[in-house]
Amino acid sequence: MQFTYYGHSTFAISIGGMNILFDPFVTYNELAKNIVDINTIKADIIFVSHGHEDHVADLVPIAKRTGALVVSNWEICGWLNTKGIPNTHPMNIGGSWKFDFGTVKCVSAVHSSGLPDASYGGTAMGFIVKTAEGDVYYSGDTALTLDMQLIPTWSKLKYAILPIGDNFTMDINDAVAAAKMVQCSKIIGVHYDTFGYIKIDKEAAVQSFKESDITLLLPAINETIELS
Ligand code: NI
Ligand code: MN
Repeated sequence: MQFTYYGHSTFAISIGGMNILFDPFVTYNELAKNIVDINTIKADIIFVSHGHEDHVADLVPIAKRTGALVVSNWEICGWLNTKGIPNTHPMNIGGSWKFDFGTVKCVSAVHSSGLPDASYGGTAMGFIVKTAEGDVYYSGDTALTLDMQLIPTWSKLKYAILPIGDNFTMDINDAVAAAKMVQCSKIIGVHYDTFGYIKIDKEAAVQSFKESDITLLLPAINETIELS
């Protein structure tokens, strides 16, 4: 199982020859737009945590080009259907579905979800991705929430992908607390540095996690790491 980072909260997990893309936002990301070409991003399936522009800006063109199945909440799938993307699978918080690569459970996130054109975007959510090579939790944009205590009852996580940029989501300290709640010692940090509001001190972030015996990985944009 491999993880490729495309900046902000955009990443792909590849497993068994399948490419699973999350929250595509590249062309409006000043840090990523000259490094990542969205026309080369592979996707068999795309998961969308919520409707905000910094999670869906490149969704329609990538879904159109790849023909990937898009999985999101009911409202975002309906919105995609009106944008010429018929290949969608609506889910909602609490539900699971078995896909070709494994099973995904939608879990709660404490965040909003309005779409860029002011359409109603339903409720933000996170995903537990359960595969034969281990389970990964992507919290999506969220505050620290006691609901995270439920995650270990559903999954023994190998990795968790958490926002650490503050202002819109958890900050570093809350993300450390989240890692403890979900009982995962290998964290990949996302949703930082992209905008002025969410600039962080990366070394201090790694140190904060280290003090709790948790490894914080901050892959470079376009870097691929093995989730071992
Ligand atoms: Ni958001
Ligand atoms: Mn966001």
